[in-house]
Amino acid sequence: MTVTARLAEIAELGRDAERGGYSRHLFDAADAPLRDWFRRSASALGLAVEEDGDANLWAWWGEAGSGVVATGSHIDSVPGGGAYDGPLGIAAAFEAVAQLQAEGFTPARPVAVCAFAEEEGSRFGLPCLGTRLLTGATDAATALERVDAAGTTLADAWRASGRDVAAVGADPERIARLAAFVELHVEQGRDLEDRGIPISTASAIIPHGRWRLEVTGSGNHAGTTTMDQRADPVVAAARVVLAVQQEALSRPPARGTIGKVQVIPGGTNVIASRVVAWLDLRADRDDDVRALFEAVLAAAREGVEAEGCTLDVHEESFTARVDFDAAVTARVAAALRPEFGEVPAIPTGAGHDAGILAAHVPTAMLFVRNPTGVSHAPGESARDEDCEAGATALAAALRELAGG
Ligand code: GLV
Ligand code: MN
Ligand code: MN
Ligand code: MN
Repeated sequence: MTVTARLAEIAELGRDAERGGYSRHLFDAADAPLRDWFRRSASALGLAVEEDGDANLWAWWGEAGSGVVATGSHIDSVPGGGAYDGPLGIAAAFEAVAQLQAEGFTPARPVAVCAFAEEEGSRFGLPCLGTRLLTGATDAATALERVDAAGTTLADAWRASGRDVAAVGADPERIARLAAFVELHVEQGRDLEDRGIPISTASAIIPHGRWRLEVTGSGNHAGTTTMDQRADPVVAAARVVLAVQQEALSRPPARGTIGKVQVIPGGTNVIASRVVAWLDLRADRDDDVRALFEAVLAAAREGVEAEGCTLDVHEESFTARVDFDAAVTARVAAALRPEFGEVPAIPTGAGHDAGILAAHVPTAMLFVRNPTGVSHAPGESARDEDCEAGATALAAALRELAGG
């Protein structure tokens, strides 16, 4: 097969007619068929599949022993996401295994292909849910209390999917069996396109915080409430959005985004009573993100109070900066050299399960060129030949790391 053909098998799963692209979230209608695809792809290669207690899938080439070399990515997406963020790393992993099998390579260590659960955090607000639970970065009890947009707790969604909530949580024994992890991912920028090269390794993931902001005002009638009588949380939230832009702009290369807003109750002729907005901040160092947050918060409070409203702030997640393992990255780069020459190690502003696993397992990443540079949107792209190059690169990495 090819990577492109593997992705074509799931091209209709989780398509979002309204937003464009794909909306694939934990335990939604697309989740089970995507998991079936993973199982079928593994079975076709003779790999045995198991699901761990945290809803992550593992396909084993060889006995599930110790010294494991793992690869993979995630099957979920953001709302209206692209076709590659996540599935490319899984399709390329299966294709790499197929290539290694075809050439008669026998791994000296067990190889695992993984699909991690809810990497985007789009349903329950916690990015890298599956790997956070698995590594204990997030404790199970707190995670299970999280609610989705419909008010369903993760615990209830877990049970409704037929899974056991008692099995959720850290599995240090499984983590201890991992010798290395390599995640292949579509690049979420234009760096490789601008450099004219198809593949790179990754040097680091910049730190990332997410907060939920609740702006409360006074719900009232749009026609009878004069402008000077209002405490309009939508206007207050607009001031918050501008404060985020202003503060992030003044601290390059920091990034500040409000990409999701709920207006409650949400009527054309209704002055809202409450606005919930989700804030995403990233910067070069952990302290830079914290300092940016404090500056945003001060400016946001001032703006909200000027509108006669109040502001409540809840931290949803904080992911520290990750520098990938230099030794594994160097071994992967060396393995790529015959086919790809000297590849750069580039930093990224996007989060990955590789970043969570890196705290426990020597971890590296591979990026595949993205001609549009767009991600988390339907315009995300990768040329077919670059997807195949990704599988070739990943096969080289696995040959090196699992070769004994
Ligand atoms: C996940 O892709 C993130 O970086 O938000
Ligand atoms: Mn991803
Ligand atoms: Mn993503
Ligand atoms: Mn991600």
